[in-house]
Amino acid sequence: MLFDRVKSLDAILATAEKKGLHRSLGAFQLTMLGVGAVIGTGIFVLTSEAAQKAGPGMMLSFMIAGFVCAVAALCYSELASMVPVSGSAYTYTYAVMGELMAWMVGWALVLEYAVGASAVAVGWSGYFVGFMAHINDFLPFIPNIVISKEFAVGPSQGGLINLPAVTISILVTLLLILGTTESARVNAVLVLIKITALTLFIALTVPVMKGAEFHPFLPNGWGTIGVVGAASSIFFAYVGFDAVSTAAEETKNPQRNVPIGLIGSLLICTVFYLLVAAGAIGAIGAQPVAGLGGEVLSPGSRELAARCAAIVASGVNEPLACSHEALAHVLRSVGWTKIGNLMGVAAFLALPSVVLMMMFGQTRVFFVMARDGLLPAKLASVHPRFKTPHVVTAFTGIVVTLAAAFLPVGKLADYSNSGTLFAFMMVAIAVLVLRRTDPGRHRPFRTPAIMVVAPLAIIGCIGLYLFLPFLAQMVLFGWGAIGLAIYFGYSRSRSHVGRGLVETHELDPDAPPQPVPPMPGAHTPGIKDA
Ligand code: ALA
Repeated sequence: MLFDRVKSLDAILATAEKKGLHRSLGAFQLTMLGVGAVIGTGIFVLTSEAAQKAGPGMMLSFMIAGFVCAVAALCYSELASMVPVSGSAYTYTYAVMGELMAWMVGWALVLEYAVGASAVAVGWSGYFVGFMAHINDFLPFIPNIVISKEFAVGPSQGGLINLPAVTISILVTLLLILGTTESARVNAVLVLIKITALTLFIALTVPVMKGAEFHPFLPNGWGTIGVVGAASSIFFAYVGFDAVSTAAEETKNPQRNVPIGLIGSLLICTVFYLLVAAGAIGAIGAQPVAGLGGEVLSPGSRELAARCAAIVASGVNEPLACSHEALAHVLRSVGWTKIGNLMGVAAFLALPSVVLMMMFGQTRVFFVMARDGLLPAKLASVHPRFKTPHVVTAFTGIVVTLAAAFLPVGKLADYSNSGTLFAFMMVAIAVLVLRRTDPGRHRPFRTPAIMVVAPLAIIGCIGLYLFLPFLAQMVLFGWGAIGLAIYFGYSRSRSHVGRGLVETHELDPDAPPQPVPPMPGAHTPGIKDA
């Protein structure tokens, strides 16, 4: 049987009690962690891409993507408050749909978190390169430094290795090893910078908005290169809120604080995105750049780059769809040159907080998978002094660094989206299944109108996935195939659930005694694989 290995919720909670991480986060910190994870490359870098696909209709794209995330967040909240342990969608799926599906979700979360972290690191690298090229404007005693293309971008963009992205990935890894509380504090400062920057952007652009810039509102219609296609890409702007639930095991009073953190951070970000998008469109317009024959050009294509270069060379102000630093460009275009430059500095300072949260989520998912025996036990060891899962953090850091070193930001973001949509869909399914199979269990937070909200989340995730670029869709399948090979080749025979090493007695005094799982790294002789 492939779907027989279900880990009971009581067993999950008991395991967390025994080998849990230090509980240090409150509701405010958690919301800040969520905002820190969410606002980033999506709004600072990918807004141009949304403009090229949807024009002013990107307002609708932000709403569609935000809506799918909101219904998914409501499902997440029910499970996160019921199962306040590390591991997010992976843990919930284990309890509801069994080990194989849980493994596939955990494997997909690598795309979301690790590949997402790499995407943001590469996005940050672009701002860093720009910052260094203008550093003399900010620090007069330092000359401008031009970083050679070979060391600024990966091979697919004509470079050798993206050294700034490598550096930021390594720095964030070290910060995470030093400790969650310290990391959360640094994160709070960076979140403040982002919120200040976006607030300033809104305050300066909304007053100069022109209604005419919103016409035509849907220049490319609703399709793949249109509003829904833009929603699939801009979905990346919302990715990360679920990292809050992966911190549940490190949260004080998680039953109350996790739903607040999830829904609160999503709400804050959605309001900011809509206002920023409206400000950007209304200030300088957001019409897509068409080819000479009036044809629609794909974002990131060579044709679009050539057309943009020709438009700029003709002396016309660079269209929003062409800009690599969208928000800074808008401010400069409406006369706020210095503040536009500062916008770039804010992005340069703040994007690392997104890398941090994505990596934080990834390390916790790996940690729980290792604790369940599906990955080598060594990965689950907690550092005696820092109280963090240092081995798994270092391992995640290496993966993120390698991807960031060689791959471009747009592709990484799309790959991340494909894994995330799969995980969100599975969570929505898990909530529905659990309502049926375990209706009496205490639910500190109940998803409202579950029979509407969960199906909407499932349909929304499938819909957005179908509007992703074909390659990104295929990545989920390719990655899934590798995951299945590892599961059947390594994990299945070592699974603690499969070997009967599951503890349920702490929470269920009537249950028969069960063997206690070995401490991470310990060898358990004489136990046969199930
Ligand atoms: N939502 C995050 C971002 O926009 C991943 O960068």
